[in-house]
Amino acid sequence: MQHLVDTDNLSDKQLEAVMQDAKSFKKQLPPPLLENHLIMTLFFENSTRTRSSFEVAAKRLGAHIVHLDPAKSSTKKGETLEDTFANLCAMEPDGVIIRHSSNETPKILADMDLTPVINAGAGNYAHPTQALLDLFTLREFFEDDIKGLRVAIVGDIINSRVASSDIRLFKRVGIDVSLVAPKPFMPDIDLPKYERIEDIIDKVDVIMSLRAQLERHKKPIFDDYEEYAKHYCITEELLEDRGILVMHPGPVMRNIDISDDILDDPRSMVLDQVKNGVYIRMAVLKLLLLDN
Ligand code: CP
Repeated sequence: MQHLVDTDNLSDKQLEAVMQDAKSFKKQLPPPLLENHLIMTLFFENSTRTRSSFEVAAKRLGAHIVHLDPAKSSTKKGETLEDTFANLCAMEPDGVIIRHSSNETPKILADMDLTPVINAGAGNYAHPTQALLDLFTLREFFEDDIKGLRVAIVGDIINSRVASSDIRLFKRVGIDVSLVAPKPFMPDIDLPKYERIEDIIDKVDVIMSLRAQLERHKKPIFDDYEEYAKHYCITEELLEDRGILVMHPGPVMRNIDISDDILDDPRSMVLDQVKNGVYIRMAVLKLLLLDN
């Protein structure tokens, strides 16, 4: 049984298979490969993109999907998460997709080995399908020529599971990653670090902008995000005519992370990432539920 807690659960061969399947699904939708399969989702944190993207992906493959609403589940009556999961698994789903605020939860459930577990975002630790769709978007735009590509991750890096997963996956495939953040948002990772975007703007091909993860801040870190935006918002004035791609996992805080004009600019890949997410999640579901 295979799980996806983070992308290091995938061998190089499986990673390439996910990329190739996603590419082929984008060209032409496949037949209903997961007909008669049942997938359950447990989203203990809010989601717009990931939950609906998994649902669209499952339905495009002909699978049925059941959502447990944690706010109305018996975890509210004191049932442990492990018991909730075991009870759901007794209904014999073909896989469970989970989002949780705790870094460890997907791994704990995966180790129970009851059904394939797919991590849809855990704490600040990992968001593997986001990293896969980010890599797919880069490979598509740069026609697979990504070795040595220079990506700057900008924003609340220390609290971001997208940054964690992107960094691990991007390094694995030979992408050069730099980090740009004010001190409170900078993790202690052995990568080039900058406090000012201006110091690296002429040395990057891609900017991955991140939202301040306010829900993970134990106390307010900045009082004034308009002041923060003066230094870290990706604007037309900052990019000028540079051909830098701008990415963001969403949700975007407009004019704090990325300005309105750049979100409408052809250099913005934000909606391309969302579109590609469906094909990547189709490929992940196929790999975990059918090919293993
Ligand atoms: N990128 C992402 O995880 O978005 P959601 O929180 O809306 O799922």
